Amino acid sequence: MARKFFVGGNWKCNGTSEEVKKIVSTLNEAEVPSEDVVEVVVSPPFVFLPLVKSLLRSDFHVAAQNCWVRKGGAFTGEVSAEMLVNLSIPWVILGHSERRALLNESNDFVGDKVAYALSRGLKVIACVGETLEQRESGSTVAVVAEQTKAIAEKISNWDNVVLAYEPVWAIGTGKVATPAQAQEVHAELRKWLKDNVSAEVAASTRIIYGGSVNGANCKELAAQPDVDGFLVGGASLKPEFIDIIKSAT
Ligand code: G3P
Repeated sequence: MARKFFVGGNWKCNGTSEEVKKIVSTLNEAEVPSEDVVEVVVSPPFVFLPLVKSLLRSDFHVAAQNCWVRKGGAFTGEVSAEMLVNLSIPWVILGHSERRALLNESNDFVGDKVAYALSRGLKVIACVGETLEQRESGSTVAVVAEQTKAIAEKISNWDNVVLAYEPVWAIGTGKVATPAQAQEVHAELRKWLKDNVSAEVAASTRIIYGGSVNGANCKELAAQPDVDGFLVGGASLKPEFIDIIKSAT
């Protein structure tokens, strides 16, 4: 079964309501391939989610950038999966490397978050990726396999999971992975899914690349057989995000 191309835009901790409205109007005016060809999901900060959802074209969708690990309650500052469902926010990004590093989110914690979000009916973009030190020591595949295993141990259904490979050394640095580097790790991740989950899950799960993707490098990356799309940071705030959407193969 062909895997539908997926382009996510992670706006991170950026924007004002005016800036957000401007981005949304650029997206709404864009001519892009149909939803049959590419799935587009943009992820504003929590505070702008209802606004973006209310203004965004109906063939694009929204994601939260995180959610809490269990039902809401006395967890100051957290946003629960139930709240996202209540706001009809369909997607959530979990396990982003910035949260793993800055907030010490462990593999196990991320696995629990993915399981809980799925159990509430959310669709999940689950992020994995190695640091430069881990790559230079030759442990890239071991690291991303470990991160994926921590998710696989907690879930039984991958239908609503998109796996995002985001090498930490490529995020926000302009040092994009080469197409060969991205393809190698995506293929290893797909092999891990085949060997440890099932051939069906391996064949159907979208594995998307994130880390300094832009309008100039997206085509070559998109042409790789195991690259099923992108999770874009900086470039998702710019008109070139439309070019990245158009790179859908
Ligand atoms: O989640 C996507 C993000 O981590 C990639 O950021 O700015 O390198 O495209 P950027």
